[in-house]
Amino acid sequence: MPQENKVVSLRPEFEPMPKVYITRRERFNAAHKLWNTKWSDEKNFEVFGKCANENWHGHNYELFVTVSGEPDENTGCIIDLKILSKILKDKVIEMLDHKNLNLDVSFMKDKMASTENLAVAIWNEIQTEIEAHDCKLHCVKVIETENNYAEYFGE
Ligand code: NI
Repeated sequence: MPQENKVVSLRPEFEPMPKVYITRRERFNAAHKLWNTKWSDEKNFEVFGKCANENWHGHNYELFVTVSGEPDENTGCIIDLKILSKILKDKVIEMLDHKNLNLDVSFMKDKMASTENLAVAIWNEIQTEIEAHDCKLHCVKVIETENNYAEYFGE
């Protein structure tokens, strides 16, 4: 039975392929504010504090995108990082960099411009294109400040 061969064989062609994770970092600068239009000014300032500043504030964001898969036998890579970088630049960085998350970014329209929501929105923008390259999108991590970041695993 092939299954038995797999377990007992020491021949490399029957070894299971290792699953590996690889991460690409991109950076962008953007402005935003946290403001819930259903709430009073008072409640917004109470909940969001300085993040509700009327005239916006900015962050130097970092985006870490992790994909998983088996290293290709010819390249040793899960995905060509130039391709991954291009997807990230074309699909999200171009839309986010030097923009206002509340006003300028179509995929953040009508959402609270939080780090959490941004991570989910970025995932939704890039998943299909990344997974067309024979790998799985594993994690989108958005760092807002040195003390805060959000991670989304597609759940
Ligand atoms: Ni902020």
